[in-house]
Amino acid sequence: MQTMLSGIKPTGRLTLGNYIGAIRQFVEYQDEYEMYIFIANLHAITVAEDPTELKRNTKDLIALYLACGLDPQKVTLFLQSDVHQHAELGWMLTCHTYMGELQRMTQYKDKTAKGETGITAGLFTYPCLMAADILMYDADFVPVGVDQKQHVELARDLAERFNNRYGETFRIPQPLTPKVGAKIYSLQNPTKKMSKSEANPKGTIDLLDDPAQARNKIKSAVTDSLGVINYDPQNQPGVSNLLMIHSSLSGESIDAIVERYQGKGYGELKKEVGDIVFDFLSDLQKRYKEIVASGVIEEVLREGNAKASRIAEKKVRKVKKKLGFQILK
Ligand code: TYM
Repeated sequence: MQTMLSGIKPTGRLTLGNYIGAIRQFVEYQDEYEMYIFIANLHAITVAEDPTELKRNTKDLIALYLACGLDPQKVTLFLQSDVHQHAELGWMLTCHTYMGELQRMTQYKDKTAKGETGITAGLFTYPCLMAADILMYDADFVPVGVDQKQHVELARDLAERFNNRYGETFRIPQPLTPKVGAKIYSLQNPTKKMSKSEANPKGTIDLLDDPAQARNKIKSAVTDSLGVINYDPQNQPGVSNLLMIHSSLSGESIDAIVERYQGKGYGELKKEVGDIVFDFLSDLQKRYKEIVASGVIEEVLREGNAKASRIAEKKVRKVKKKLGFQILK
C-alpha cells in the first residue's frame, strides 16, 4: 500500500478552503492509502500565536478532522510537537537546503514583498521542517492545495539530494492537488486565496461559522457585471469561485451546473450555493459537537502519537547513521 501524508496548521479557524483543498482529499483517500494526518503546531509558531488560542485551535482541528470523516481506525492522526523527531530531522534537512532555495519560496517572498516586519528565522526555514514531516514517513503522495505545492517540490529536491549524497534514504514524494478546488478564493476579493488570516470576515467561510451567516456570506459574494454564468476564472473569478464551491460540495460537475444555469441569474446561483453550504456546515457541526462531547480526542491522539513516534524514531536513527552520527552501538 502506498503512503499519503498531510498536515494543517492550527492557526485561526479552519476555512472552507482548507476543507475543499485538503481535508476532502484526506477523507476520500483514507481507504486506499496508508495515511498520516497531523496538526502542524510547530509550523504554527513561526508567527506569534497566543498559547490559549493555539490550544483551542488545536483541539478544534482534531475534532474537525474527525467530523469531516477521518476514521482513526484507518488514519494515523498525530500532533507534530509530540513527535520530537520532526524537529530533529528538520534541522538535518535545513543543513542540506540552500538559502537561495528558501528565498524563492513564494509564501516567504510574499511576506517580505509586503514589507511585513517580525519575520522569524523559523518562518524562513519552515519548508525544511515541512520536508521533514513528509520524508519522515516515506510519503508517496502529499494532498495539498495549490499554495503548498512548491513546498512539496522542495521536499522532493531535498530527498533526491540526500539520497544522492548518502545513498537511498528517503522516498521521493509527489504533491497531489484536487482537480476542482485546489485554490478557493475569498468571497470578497475573488482573486485572493480564501485564508484563515483574511481580515474581512465576509470573505471567508469558517467551518465553525453559524450556517445561516455563512449562507449570507455567499449571498453577498462579489461577482461581476457580465450577468452570465460561465466557468471563466480569468474574467469571472467570483462566479467561477462559487461554481467551484458548489461542485466540490455537491459532486455535480462544473459543466453540468453551468449548463443548468444558462439563462439564469447570479441570485439563483448564490441561493443554491448558499443552501449547499448551509447544509454542509449544519451536518459537519452536528458531528463536531458530538465528537467534542464524546471526549475521544485524547485517546485518538495518544494512539496516533505513539504509532507516528515509532516510525519517526526508526527513520531518524537511519538518517543519523548515514550522517555519521552514530557512535554508540
Ligand atoms: P495550511 O494550514 O495553510 O493549509 C492547510 C491545507 O489547506 C490548503 N488550503 C487551501 N486549499 C484550497 N483553497 C484555499 N483557499 C486553501 N487555503 C488553504 C493548503 O494548501 C493546505 O493543503 N505548511 C502547511 C502545513 C504543513 C504540511 C506539512 C502540509 C506542514 N507540514 C506536510 C503537507 C505536508 C500549511 O501551512 O497549510
